[in-house]
Parts: sequence; structure tokens; C-alpha cells
Amino acid sequence: MSVDPIAEDFSVEDFLKPGWETLEAKLSFFSPYFRKLRAEGALMREAQGPAAAHMRYADPDAAGGARDVLMFGSNNYLGLANEPELIEKTVAALREFGVGCGGPPLLNGYTRLHRELEERLARLKGAEDALLYSSGYAANVGWLAALLSRKDVLLYDSLSHASLHDGIKMGSFKATPFAHNNMQDLRKRLMEVRYEAPYANVIVAVEGLYSMHGDTPPLREVRQLCDKFGALLAVDDAHGTGVLGALGHGIQEACELSGRVDVTLGTFSKVFAVAGGFVAGSNELVDFLRFYSRSYMFSASIPTPTVASVLAGLDFLEAHPERVQQLRENVDYLVAGLRAAGFDVEGQSAIVPLGVPERVSMQKLVWRLHQEGVFVNGITFPAVPKSKQRLRISMMATFTRADLDRALEVMARVLAEFGLPE
Ligand SMILES: Cc1ncc(COP(=O)(O)O)c(C=O)c1O
Repeated sequence: MSVDPIAEDFSVEDFLKPGWETLEAKLSFFSPYFRKLRAEGALMREAQGPAAAHMRYADPDAAGGARDVLMFGSNNYLGLANEPELIEKTVAALREFGVGCGGPPLLNGYTRLHRELEERLARLKGAEDALLYSSGYAANVGWLAALLSRKDVLLYDSLSHASLHDGIKMGSFKATPFAHNNMQDLRKRLMEVRYEAPYANVIVAVEGLYSMHGDTPPLREVRQLCDKFGALLAVDDAHGTGVLGALGHGIQEACELSGRVDVTLGTFSKVFAVAGGFVAGSNELVDFLRFYSRSYMFSASIPTPTVASVLAGLDFLEAHPERVQQLRENVDYLVAGLRAAGFDVEGQSAIVPLGVPERVSMQKLVWRLHQEGVFVNGITFPAVPKSKQRLRISMMATFTRADLDRALEVMARVLAEFGLPE
């Protein structure tokens, strides 16, 4: 390729163009691009302390080589990552069980805490049982590739997470997207797969909360359509758990559909602020997945201290439903402030997307915000189409009003530097 990967207008899209003679050429072309982004602080910024509402990041431009920021780029929505109660219980499990299990769950990586967590998660989602995976990603590829076979079809929302797409690639079943949250399109697809080319089993997959848009599905309507057409319903509630519903039990609670979802997927990497994932469903589903889900069978168990962190997170959620309420109030406050500053934003969840026109360099915008002490993620192509690039403002319950006022002042001032709102 003759273009310069360090050039200002170069984008990640350029690497998708074919024309690499050798692997070596491809890798050595990409490396300078990535290193430049990293050196500029656009990626992989180094945190110098625990994940929390106030964080410190290494920054060679700042006095003392570090900068304090308000963290609007984390999935640690309830602030559990640094909650003393969680730390104490995690340390106790660390002392009792050591750092890891030494094997996968079917062989030797299973403790009473792993079982307790499975039972608690099943109860949280109104399911009969649950099984734990090493990540939400592993859970998604695991259940999809294991459960569905050639005569089955998956109808999935077009904005579904990459892990669902990878589960489709790993499986051997038919998969068809339907337009995001569009019930007419879903109905049309259900009619096609039921009457025109009948499949043995139909599963409809939606998310509890879409992480790039911050919106939720019309789950009651989805359930009704599934019932009408004899389809199973799968919900990836990665971002909804701990956020939606008065008690934070997720989209099922918010839509009063507890126990009415056939396959629920969740992760510990969002509100629980650690890593790991789970699938909840019927006893028979969970038994089957324990054997046929390759990412479960052939992968080590999550470490027992991590299991203890999630159990402590569930205890915390039960004892402090006001944290969920505080998150809601913080979102409402920020959204009202951004609207007053002229921005067209929605606040259905802890994720508030703010559209940024294509002419604006997201990298520069994000870095300016960082320099002013506000950490926000910029979402660009290929995660979203170029015309839909956005700041993804992630809220935390542990921000004070003073924090939010400061963030609003910085956001309005920096965005104005870029001619926004237009
Ligand atoms: C909707 C959704 N599903 C699954 C995952 C994967 O979760 P994990 O980080 O546990 O691998 C994510 C993470 O971004 C997600 O947003």
C-alpha cells in the first residue's frame, strides 16, 4: 500500500482493504498506526489506581506525569470495583481458596462458592439454574454454538454484540438479523422461518440494553411474538443487570418478565466490575451446556476470589437498591444538563450516547476532554458506521452533583471548541 499509516486522515478502515502481499507486510504496516494511537493516549491509557468515579491516569503532559479524571468511560456503573465490602469478601476467599482453581469446572475447578453463585444468578433471573464462564464473550459463543444445529435458526437484533456474531460463526445453524428493535421486521422474519422454510427450532436473540445506543428492547412485544410463533427467547443482559429494574435485576425485572426468558446471558465485567460470565435457563439447558459448550468444557474456571467478588456484589445490590436509584438520578441530571446546553441526548440507561459529526476527529475530541479531566470513550468505525460516531458517556452512581456539574461544564466548553452543538 502506498498510503501513510501515520497520516492524519488514516483510519482503521484502511486496514480492511485487501492487498497485503505477506503477513509480515500487514503486521508491520499496522504496528506504527497502533503505536501512534497508543502514544497519543487514544488507547490503553494506564490507570494508576482502582477503578472508581475519580481515577488517576498516567499522562506525560500533566504535572507529575499523571492526571486526575472523572471516569465517564467505565462499565463499573454502581462503583462496586472499589467497594470496601467487596474487597473484604474477595480477600477472605483469596485466603481460603488461593488465587485460582487449577482446572475447568467439570474436572477440578468448582467450589461451594461457584455453586452458590450459580444458584444466586439463577434466582436473580428467575431461572432454574445457571453456569459460569470465563467471560461474557465465552458464554455467548458457548451457548450458541452448542445449542443450535443445522435445522435451527437464530433471529437476532442487528445491533447485537460481537460475541453473538462470533457464536454464529462458530456454530452450524442459520442466522438472520432483524432491524434494530423493529417488531414489524421481527414478525416478518418469524413468518418466513415458520411458514416459508420451516425450521425445527427458532430462537430470537435480543440484548437487555444496547451498549452503543443505550436503549432497551420492547421485551414484552418480543416475548409475545416468540409465543405466537413458537420461538424461544434469548436475552443478553450484559449491560442491563444491576442497572435496569428497581432492584437492578435487569431487563426481565424492568419488563416484569422474570422467569419468561428461555436463555439469559450475563457478564461480570460490567456492573460487577470483574470478569466472567454466565448463562441462566432451565435445568436441562444448563446440564446440556455444561457438556457441549466448548468454551465451558475446555476452559479453566473463573478464580474463586472473582466468584466471591460477584457474590459480594449481589449482596451489595440486595442491601443497597438505592445505588441503582442513584444511578438513574445521575443519568437524569446529566441528560438534563446536556439538553440545556443544546445537545440532543437520550438517557434510557447508564449509557448516554452523544452524536459527533463525521468532520470531527474523535481522537482529538476525546483527548481534549481527557486533558480537561473528563474520561469519555469515543466510539468510531468499525464499531458504528462513520456517520454515527459518538461519545459514549457511561454514568456511575458514585458521582456527586459537584462531579456532574464539573463534567457538564467541561463537556460544554470542549465540545464548543469543536463547533458543537451545530
Ligand atoms: C452485550 C454484550 N455481550 C457480551 C459482552 C462480553 O462480555 P465480557 O466482557 O464478559 O466478555 C459484552 C461486553 O462488552 C457486551 O456488551
